[in-house]
Amino acid sequence: MRDPDNSAVRNPAVVVGVPSSVGITATATFFVLSFGFTDDMDLQIDGNAALVTASSSGLGKASARALAREGANVVINGRDADRLADAKADIEADATGEVVTQQGDLTDEDDIEALVETTVDEFGGIDHLVTSAGGPPSGPFLDTDDEDWYQAYDLLVMSVVRLAREAEPHLRESDAGTIVNITSRSVKEAINSLVLSNSVRMSVIGLEKTLSKEFAPDVRTNAVLPGPHETERIEELVNQAVDRGEYDSYEAGLDDWASNPLERVGDPMELGNTVAFLSSPLSGYINGESVLIDGGSTGANL
Ligand SMILES: NC(=O)c1ccc[n+]([C@@H]2O[C@H](COP(=O)([O-])OP(=O)(O)OC[C@H]3O[C@@H](n4cnc5c(N)ncnc54)[C@H](OP(=O)(O)O)[C@@H]3O)[C@@H](O)[C@H]2O)c1
Repeated sequence: MRDPDNSAVRNPAVVVGVPSSVGITATATFFVLSFGFTDDMDLQIDGNAALVTASSSGLGKASARALAREGANVVINGRDADRLADAKADIEADATGEVVTQQGDLTDEDDIEALVETTVDEFGGIDHLVTSAGGPPSGPFLDTDDEDWYQAYDLLVMSVVRLAREAEPHLRESDAGTIVNITSRSVKEAINSLVLSNSVRMSVIGLEKTLSKEFAPDVRTNAVLPGPHETERIEELVNQAVDRGEYDSYEAGLDDWASNPLERVGDPMELGNTVAFLSSPLSGYINGESVLIDGGSTGANL
């Protein structure tokens, strides 16, 4: 059971200032977010073992933070050692679970084996696998070549295939096994200048649905489909669009990318908290689902 002394760190309602680099003019500069679950909601993952890939930054890091705040022990990953060490210190600042780093490239099969091995060695098993990765290059179809397609497939699809295969026996041994795949809202609605994301990520959803049947009832598998969130990835995409001449300025580009009924980009912790919920037994009847987290920007009814 969770140590009740730790509960105070789990509900820091904070005021977030949106940096000017990602600020959107259409809405207020400041907004209030509840970063953690309330003390009334125990996600019942205290002491569980989680592996979160591509988690030295952005959405993976936010997911690792949300899990570690709820008492899960988490292995985090990225290629750059310094960035990974910084992320560990940052997540540990309000974690009640342990945080262990494992450097590695998700396009390297051996590195993926090492990620799974480290999680099992450190924490005795794997209860929760959360897959994220870097994003593919943006641009129109005619600017892509075969190598771009193979690289995007390797990074976005084969990393999930290999992680699921390696982690499967450990997830099945757990009495709380879950997989959450972080993909993109591009699987619901094609996004301009993101042909690789629009196309290749569909395979991850096909895999997710398949695993939700083949690994069940031992393991639940779900996906989250982010719209624009305040991470380095969104800065990179908007800057690339400005470079291609699609927008006059970064601000104009971000306004367009962040256009949605809520009139703001998402905070990564809003996605991280959803990932933690989908990893929790509190979502125990949700399996094979793809959850949009996009402020309502996607027009599809379902
Ligand atoms: N942020 C958004 O608005 C948004 C919206 C829709 C979809 N997405 C997708 O969600 C995923 C995560 O995005 P993000 O916003 O979290 O990006 P981010 O802030 O740029 O973080 C990417 C993370 O992935 C790691 N990474 C990149 N390539 C890697 C590799 N080959 N092996 C291991 N780690 C790798 C990076 O660390 P190193 O560079 O040190 O390896 C970093 O920790 C991406 O696929 C992105 O396209 C993001």
